[in-house]
Amino acid sequence: MPLLEMRNIVKEFPGVRALDGVSLTLDAGEFHSLVGENGAGKSTLMKVLSGVYPEGTFAGEILVDDASRHFRGIRDSEKAGIAIIFQELSLVKELTVGENIFLGREPSRFGIVNWSELYHRATKLLQDLNLPIDPQVKAGSLGIGQQQLVEIAKALSQDAKILVLDEPTAALTESEVETLFGILENLRKRGVGMIYISHKLDEVFRMSDRVTVLRDGKTVATHTAADTNTNEIIAAMVGREVGDIFPVTTHSRGATALSVSNLTAYSADIAGKKLVDSVSFAVKKGEVLGIAGLMGAGRSELLMSIFAAWRGKHVRGIEVDGRPVKINSPSDAIDNGIGFVTEDRKRFGLILEQTIVDNMTLAGLKRLSGRIFTNRTKENHAVAGAMKSLRIKANSPLTVAGTLSGGNQQKIVLGKWLLTDPSVLFLDEPTRGIDVGAKQEIYAEINRLAKEGMAIVLVSSELPEVLGLSDRIIVLHEGRVTGEFTREDATPEKVMAAATGNH
Ligand SMILES: Nc1ncnc2c1ncn2[C@@H]1O[C@H](COP(=O)(O)OP(=O)(O)OP(=O)(O)O)[C@@H](O)[C@H]1O
Ligand SMILES: [Mg+2]
Repeated sequence: MPLLEMRNIVKEFPGVRALDGVSLTLDAGEFHSLVGENGAGKSTLMKVLSGVYPEGTFAGEILVDDASRHFRGIRDSEKAGIAIIFQELSLVKELTVGENIFLGREPSRFGIVNWSELYHRATKLLQDLNLPIDPQVKAGSLGIGQQQLVEIAKALSQDAKILVLDEPTAALTESEVETLFGILENLRKRGVGMIYISHKLDEVFRMSDRVTVLRDGKTVATHTAADTNTNEIIAAMVGREVGDIFPVTTHSRGATALSVSNLTAYSADIAGKKLVDSVSFAVKKGEVLGIAGLMGAGRSELLMSIFAAWRGKHVRGIEVDGRPVKINSPSDAIDNGIGFVTEDRKRFGLILEQTIVDNMTLAGLKRLSGRIFTNRTKENHAVAGAMKSLRIKANSPLTVAGTLSGGNQQKIVLGKWLLTDPSVLFLDEPTRGIDVGAKQEIYAEINRLAKEGMAIVLVSSELPEVLGLSDRIIVLHEGRVTGEFTREDATPEKVMAAATGNH
């Protein structure tokens, strides 16, 4: 008898059949991965399971311990022992870590929250998980990776017997990923069943007992992990063979497009702490410059400071096309031909309530630069073209951005900046949460843009991506440049050595 059974689930949104008869089982102590392209229906299936989409808004049946369940909301699924860590962070930024962990379940006596008990339990939980996080700080002050770990602590505090993780490692450092997998290994021993959603197939194969592949809202296959392999899974996901993911290209480099000298950026929270320390670099027209480094090395802070979007103090000299420029705000940066796909699409990239067209044109850019597109038809046309070339899965350019799958939202952010036709484009984790097929398309797009003469600065935590795309790589460690390699010289070993400070 499986611990969980989902039978023939059908879920429709206006104009989209997101789930078209999906069935899935989960055993106690099983690690079951759920994979599929962006928009395949993974998150939707898990929202059905957790009561986000209540009974009556979908067809099919959910059984836990062989009994049919009818969830009217998340509280009901929690009571049935189901905990879910959502793809999009859902912590309340204004509340402390401890308050977030016990939100709605605060320990209380006579109706009054027992704060010392709450923080005592939160401290113990975080310690048990080996997470060096202070439960008294506001959740919003933590980096994305740490917020993700707090979400995990929150789910575990509920003593769930079924744990769903929807792309939990997207924003984690390598050591945080190890911490997470250690925790999951323990949970498996305790008999917790886990459903694990990820686009990182190496993670999928690391712990899975079974792997289920969804495509266009249907189950295409459920394999025992030991009997299948990465290629078979990818082929099932995209419905075709995927060739060499990094096409070999040569870019001819032109004049220097952007040069930055002696950039130092300070922490916004800790006075005097340098996150980026006297970094200088230049990027030429037609060149892809990769910036490698571990999380926390200062890569995002570097780009944000150039763009005048960093919250803390920063000093630097910037030249565009060989002339010194003053960039005091993001709109100055845009006016100087710099575009920026930021890592946190929710915070900087996307207005979830607005349509794709508004996000890609007016809303995002007018706000930043004061630039106004006047020709609506031309604009719709350009957006439709970008949607097609990036393979954005949506009914129309008038679809509301918030209703798209996570990966498709990321593609809109990329498309928005491409439409401004920048001469220098910053890409910070451009393929986070993107499926393999779409990744390949984004890589081809990056190569095409470089070929046309755009200067590209790429930050990515995926080393193969940096190595596969960059003409040149600089490596940061604790805010300083610790290595520089050409495409020919760069090896994973050399880059990692520089990134960990062993150079
Ligand atoms: N609230 C909603 N309203 C309308 N359509 C939706 C809504 N939520 C999801 N969809 C659509 O349902 C389909 C499945 O989306 P879902 O988020 O489940 O994909 P996913 O497999 O999780 O993708 P990703 O890997 O990008 O996270 C997509 O076509 C999406 O646009
Ligand atoms: Mg999803």
